[in-house]
Amino acid sequence: MKIPRNLLHFLLIILAFCGEISGSPPPKEPFAVYLTWQRDPTTTMTVQWINPVDFAANEFEFHAVGDPFWNRTSTYALSLPNENRYHIYRLELTGLIPNMDYFFRIGGSEGKIYNFRTMPATDETPFRFVVGGDIYHDGLEKVLQTNRQAALQSPWFALLGGDLAYGADKFGILPEGWQSWMEKWLAKVDISPSKRQRWFDWLASWKHTMVTPEGRLIPLIPALGNHDVNGGFGKTAEDAQIFHALFPFPGKKGYQTLEFGKYLNLIVLDTGHTNPIGGEQTRWLYNILRASEEFKHKFALYHVPAYPSIRKFNGKISSEVRHFWVPLFDKYGLTAAFENHDHAYKRTFPLRSGKIDPQGVLFFGDGAWGVEEPRERTPKDKRWYLANSASKSHFIMVTI
Ligand SMILES: [Fe+2]
Repeated sequence: MKIPRNLLHFLLIILAFCGEISGSPPPKEPFAVYLTWQRDPTTTMTVQWINPVDFAANEFEFHAVGDPFWNRTSTYALSLPNENRYHIYRLELTGLIPNMDYFFRIGGSEGKIYNFRTMPATDETPFRFVVGGDIYHDGLEKVLQTNRQAALQSPWFALLGGDLAYGADKFGILPEGWQSWMEKWLAKVDISPSKRQRWFDWLASWKHTMVTPEGRLIPLIPALGNHDVNGGFGKTAEDAQIFHALFPFPGKKGYQTLEFGKYLNLIVLDTGHTNPIGGEQTRWLYNILRASEEFKHKFALYHVPAYPSIRKFNGKISSEVRHFWVPLFDKYGLTAAFENHDHAYKRTFPLRSGKIDPQGVLFFGDGAWGVEEPRERTPKDKRWYLANSASKSHFIMVTI
């Protein structure tokens, strides 16, 4: 039967309209795609994505620039704690060529093609990275704004010093009997019951905006903040289940080191959220720094500042960081420490043994990537260690 042209046109419009109201077509790209590292960033890349549990097309293919063939590799799905709508998919690519562009797609030939670059084998190739923390503090618009500015600088990666999505329950898991009372109280103060959604929204925004002008996805390396852990401080890895499900940490959960070839050592620390600052973590830090003398660049990333720009100098956590870690930073010549949590910008003078010293360590901070109203800055003359401070949302850019 021949359908008149006008009628066919009308039917197509109706079909399109039905499609619109019955839901959009299945996505050709995952809900969130993000890159991180578990081992040497010059030869590996960990690719992760999040898809609805019933989304079938998750095969992963990749190739180096100039290679005409797609290589398929196996992946595995992880469940998110107490979450039955989405799976996280994770795979680690190893044996990659340093300073090389790779392309990948998820879900076969229909999948969107993404691009990343491995880190150079030595620091003779210049590169830059961005640093910041306290990200999804307010609306997503502020996050997107800072993301776009950061991505425009073409960073090779981003260091994120905690309080990433403000996705944890501030009060932690309550003892039995207290639950119903606290639930009523939480309802009264209007704390959203869907904090988990904040993680998803933030990661989805990362996929869309943390892309360089050349089209490369920007890998991220996260540290724990108090708002990433149920209860904030003095908890265990169990209280940071979503953080650890989303970000693989090699070795001890909560702190790690990442060696870039033999030129850069990045040390990610836990300022008392799921690991005490002293004891085992400090012993570990001592061993890492003692063995890292050959690294020209040594950076530490953590949440609560040793040299706060806003909060009390003698606060418990800041005092512990200065007592346990800073002497090791001094002794083994840390290049710089990246601090967060105080929601303003600061740069210290180079510091050594608690004094200004040209040979000392620089402390940058203090975490206001997505904070709409950064805190009122402390004037430089009120804190002897501040070389600069500003009440501004910001990211820090480092060029090597
Ligand atoms: Fe914080």
